[in-house]
Amino acid sequence: MKLWGGRFARHERDPLFEKFSESFSVDCRLVEYDFAANAAFVRELGRIRVLKAREVRKLLGGLEAVRRAVRSHPNWAARGGAEDVHTWVEARLEKEIGPLARKLRTGRSRNDLVATGTRLYLKRAIREIECAALHLLDSFAGRARRHLGIVIPGFTHLQPAQPILLSHYWLAYFEMIRRDVSRFEDCRRRADELPLGSGALAGASFPVDRTRLAKELGFARVAMNSLDATSDRDFVIEALFVSALSMLHLSRLAEDLIIYSSPAFGFVTLADAYSTGSSLMPQKKNPDALELIRGKAATLLGRLSGAMAIVKGLPLAYNRDLQEDKTALFEGVETARDALELAARVVDTLEVHPDKMKAAVESGFMTATDLADELVRRGVPFAEAHEQVGKLVRYCSGRNTGFAALSTAEAERFIPAWDATLAAIAKSPEKSVARKAALGGTAPARVTRQLRAAERSLVELRKALAPRR
Ligand code: ARG
Repeated sequence: MKLWGGRFARHERDPLFEKFSESFSVDCRLVEYDFAANAAFVRELGRIRVLKAREVRKLLGGLEAVRRAVRSHPNWAARGGAEDVHTWVEARLEKEIGPLARKLRTGRSRNDLVATGTRLYLKRAIREIECAALHLLDSFAGRARRHLGIVIPGFTHLQPAQPILLSHYWLAYFEMIRRDVSRFEDCRRRADELPLGSGALAGASFPVDRTRLAKELGFARVAMNSLDATSDRDFVIEALFVSALSMLHLSRLAEDLIIYSSPAFGFVTLADAYSTGSSLMPQKKNPDALELIRGKAATLLGRLSGAMAIVKGLPLAYNRDLQEDKTALFEGVETARDALELAARVVDTLEVHPDKMKAAVESGFMTATDLADELVRRGVPFAEAHEQVGKLVRYCSGRNTGFAALSTAEAERFIPAWDATLAAIAKSPEKSVARKAALGGTAPARVTRQLRAAERSLVELRKALAPRR
């Protein structure tokens, strides 16, 4: 069945083009939203007397029957056979109620319908993403609560830099994902606009009350320009951008944990459930879950630039190129949702090895900056303090020892002011951490306050997500 057969010679069809142009295999995901939008429009056509009450009843009954059939057959779309989901619904409705089904598309176009369905899909998808993100935020906060006493090496350039609290590390990712959630929320609010009633491009020819339609379909507002509503896909691009950005955050987390779980570090062990083995090397335990998060982040970046490229250069209004938006959108938001949930589970089940972290903190001269800072407190210019401590580090690393094994006589050769206080600073990562007491730093008191703020924002977020779920 075609929705546009009249103008064409029946026999001129190329199966290759039909396969090339079908979107049913992808947009079948919109079927629920197609039912909802169709039903709302039919009711509106009834209210403005374009359809008779009896017709409305029969059309709605038919739509409901098809919907029930779809719900009870999880494989309903497997047979394919339609150009797109909108065509499928109409054809299936005709089977259900006969020729009256041909009144279904009165006054509306697939162009406003598909934009409506896609926005409805996106709003739901963002809710699901936010729930997964909430789980991950919970996991970070939970880890931060449990790991307050653990000091780990902080890195820059992946070289030992300064000691930090493990909780501070988890809360860094908490901040990133929390911002992603607010971006998703933003995106959802902007997408919350009704295209239906825009027709193919110029607007509906029947006096439909679009405000009523918006209310019925749960949209916050009506899209105010029919050309825009049927042809822009900025909401798809925005959702893909935010999805890609949260995947970037997850990808960095994945990369950290891949490194930390390698035996050379041994900071963490990944749960068996999220690891795989090697078909050849019996000893292997590989962090595949994390590698796939990293890999899928790359794929999503491609989807984002693909979606932007679709829109670039399209003349107003609808062009068939826009059909490609859905593959990108569905894959993008579903990947982000699953990756967020998976990351939460990986973090929840991670085994942490404080002994290994402690050993790593004690090597690597990570208190070097604290020594220089202490000299500064005693009046030594920072550049000079830096130089003295640098020479001491060079001496120690040349002899393959750390600050701990240093005798006073050795230390004094490089730092004339060396005394018990400096020796204690050199040997105490905990003191180093405690000194980072300015707002945002890793000192325990600051981190505890960060954690409390994180927990408060979790309460808010849980409240915001609960009622509308
Ligand atoms: N499957 C199409 C899409 O996803 C539906 C809209 C088709 N409109 C049209 N004028 N051919 O974009």
